[in-house]
Formats: sequence, structure tokens, C-alpha cells
Amino acid sequence: MKDLQHYMRPGTLQLGALPPLSLYVHLPWCLRKCPYCDFNSHEMKPGELPEQQYLDALVADLEQSLPLVWGRGVHSIFIGGGTPSLFSPAGIDRLLGDIRARLKLEADCEITLEANPGTFEKDRFRAFRAAGVTRLSVGVQSFNDAHLKAVGRVHDRAQAIAACEEAQAAFDTFNLDLMYALPGQTLAQLEADVTQALALMPPHLSIYHLTLEPNTYFAKFPPALPSDDEAFAMLDRITERTGAAGMARYEVSAYARRGHRCRHNQNYWQFGDYLGIGAGAHGKLSFAHRVVRQVRFRDPKLYMDNARAGNAVAQEEEVARADLPFEYMLNALRLREGFSLRDFSERTGLPPSAIGRALEEAQAKGLVERRMGPAGDHVQPTERGFDFLSDLQSLFLPG
Ligand SMILES: C[S@@+](CC[C@H](N)C(=O)[O-])C[C@H]1O[C@@H](n2cnc3c(N)ncnc32)[C@H](O)[C@@H]1O
Ligand code: SF4
Repeated sequence: MKDLQHYMRPGTLQLGALPPLSLYVHLPWCLRKCPYCDFNSHEMKPGELPEQQYLDALVADLEQSLPLVWGRGVHSIFIGGGTPSLFSPAGIDRLLGDIRARLKLEADCEITLEANPGTFEKDRFRAFRAAGVTRLSVGVQSFNDAHLKAVGRVHDRAQAIAACEEAQAAFDTFNLDLMYALPGQTLAQLEADVTQALALMPPHLSIYHLTLEPNTYFAKFPPALPSDDEAFAMLDRITERTGAAGMARYEVSAYARRGHRCRHNQNYWQFGDYLGIGAGAHGKLSFAHRVVRQVRFRDPKLYMDNARAGNAVAQEEEVARADLPFEYMLNALRLREGFSLRDFSERTGLPPSAIGRALEEAQAKGLVERRMGPAGDHVQPTERGFDFLSDLQSLFLPG
């Protein structure tokens, strides 16, 4: 990592204020690798986790990063994976203690931990709460045992329900992850999953279209999946059912009751800053005249060795001025509420004129609407823009 002077030197961007800062912590192990998953996750039996060594590496990584976020408060933490719930509650307690000792957490800091129902034990989940986790994100995927098996999950329907009930009882708020358009899934089966999910009263739901990612088992041996038309019909049904249950679709894949939006993910979508520590973690940090992206070493062993040697960052680059509009839109246009031109300028350091032509084109194509809001000129994706999001975003690619 370079010294602070390097990040503070003059440049062509002018950021008047720095955005809110979040912290992402990646814990890269799972009980079994799911065949659709391209996250940086590695199979490991619970007893074999090098928990203390990894936590030592995370502290070393955090300490090396402190000069880049000096004096800034942290408004959310997301402990993701992998399967962070494989770590012991004592390990998570140590991790949060190590973080608190080095970073100033805002008073209402949201602290999310991802949990797999296959790691569910009542006392364990309660102990995560006692360690300071405020929000549990439960990776359910489906409540149908045949579909759970088809996507290689280690848990069944009963464990998924038990995990969500405990999340409801023990945490301030929780999220339930589902996937749809699963191998052989019918519209009626998808609806049964949504009905069961809603019956558990989650304050937040994330519902993802199962995608075949390159370099996964499913990419090599693709299962028979519902057609695009069937998947569209499923998404319509999801939007209808969640809406009727009082959950607003505030982002392409995220639905929440009032007051339960995920602050951490919202910060990503609003092009806020995040320090990412842990194997393969990505980070984005702003300075007065530049926006910098970082990636940590991906392989857990390599990451641990390098972090402890004082060099966790494998790659670092400044986002080119010409790429900032598209990078901003990849995030902000995912939000139902869109963004104001003032937000755009504040986060990118660019004048609104940098996206003038692309915005006019998007408006002419019926993909965005513009109006005057409390923060000035406001831009919002239309229904059509939301349905054809990548076409809309691509209008902002460098010319
Ligand atoms: C890192 S995982 C969450 C926690 C935990 N590892 C688990 O799976 O239970 C984040 C979420 O991304 C979603 N996901 C992962 N791979 C996906 C894929 N290929 N297509 C769609 N959604 C995917 C799943 O819903 C998953 O819960
Ligand atoms: S449990 Fe989650 S992170 Fe782990 S392999 Fe499965 S989807 Fe990926």
C-alpha cells in the first residue's frame, strides 16, 4: 500500500465531501461449495478452520488500512462470505472487538452477519447477537427440499425455517435470501416459496434470479432451468406478493418493510465508500481528488501470509475519470428512488454536465424520468428502465 501523500496529491476530480464509510469483512469458508456459486468461498470442515490465524490476518490488514480512512466514522459493517456463521461466536466477538478498538463506529452502526441454516444452533445465533451483530442475513434459497438438493445446499426446509424463526426472535432485524428460476421450478412452486418466506415475516428479503456464473460446476454441467418468459412471470409474481405484504422493492433484488432497508448495501448503491478486508475483498475509497479501488489476495492462505507480512492488497487502481459515470450508474440506477444530480457530483467529483447527453438519451428512450426534488434535479429509472437495466446503464459507458 502506498503512503497517504500519494492518495492526497492533486488530481482532476473535486470531491467536496467524502461519502459515508462502511466496512466489509470477508470470511471465505463454507461447509460445501454450492454448484452455482462464484463467490470466493472454499470448502472446509468447521474443526479445520484456521480461525485465530485468519483473525490475526484481518487485524493486520485493518491496521495497514487505517491511514486511508483516518478520522472517518463507520456507519455499517457487513461480515460476508463464504459462510461467516461457521466462525465461532467467540471468534466473531474477537473480530468486532478488534474493529471497535481501531475504528470509530457510529452509534447506530448496522452490523450484519451472513448465516447458512446448515450452521444453525439456537445458542450460537444468540451468541452472535451478544457479540454485537444487529442483523442476521439467512441464506435460505428455497423452502422446497427437492430444489435445495438440486442447488446443492447443505440444509433442508425445516432447518431454514428454524434459522429464520431464531433470527426473528434474537436480532433487531434480519434478511432472508431466496433464489428463483431454480432447476425444474414451476411458477406455483416459486409462489409456495414466497408464501413460506412471507409467513416468517422477514423485515427484509433479497430475491435473486439464479444465474449460471462462469467457472462454476453449473456452468460446466448446466441444469435445465425455467425459460426467460417463465422467469419474468416469476419476478412479476414476487413483486406482486411482496408488495401486497407491505414490502417495497427498493432495489432490483431487495424488498423491505419501512425502516428495514439494508444500510450497508444502500451505501454501495449510493456509491458510498467501503473498506474491504479479508481474502478477495473489494474496497472503494474516496479522497479529495480521486476514487481508488482495491482488491485483497483471493486465496485464503496467500491472503493470510501477505496480510501478516504487511501487504494484503493484491491490486489497487484509481478509477479513471471517464469510467466514473458508468460505475456510478451501475449502482445508483439499481435503486427504485434513483439519485439527484447533486448526489452524482458529490460522489464522483464530476460536474452534472458529464452525463448530460446520456441522460437526455435515456429520457428520450423512456428509461428514466426527471423531476425537481428536494436536492435539485432528480433522476429515477422508469418501470421500463428497471426491466432493461443493462441497456440503460450502458448509455453511460465512456464514449
Ligand atoms: C455469499 S451468499 C450468502 C450466505 C451464505 N453463503 C449462503 O449461501 O447461505 C449471498 C447470496 O447470493 C445469492 N447467490 C449466490 N450465487 C448466486 C447465483 N449464481 N445466482 C443468484 N444468486 C446467487 C444467494 O442467494 C446467496 O444467499
Ligand atoms: S454457502 Fe453461500 S458462499 Fe458458500 S458456496 Fe454456497 S452460496 Fe457460495
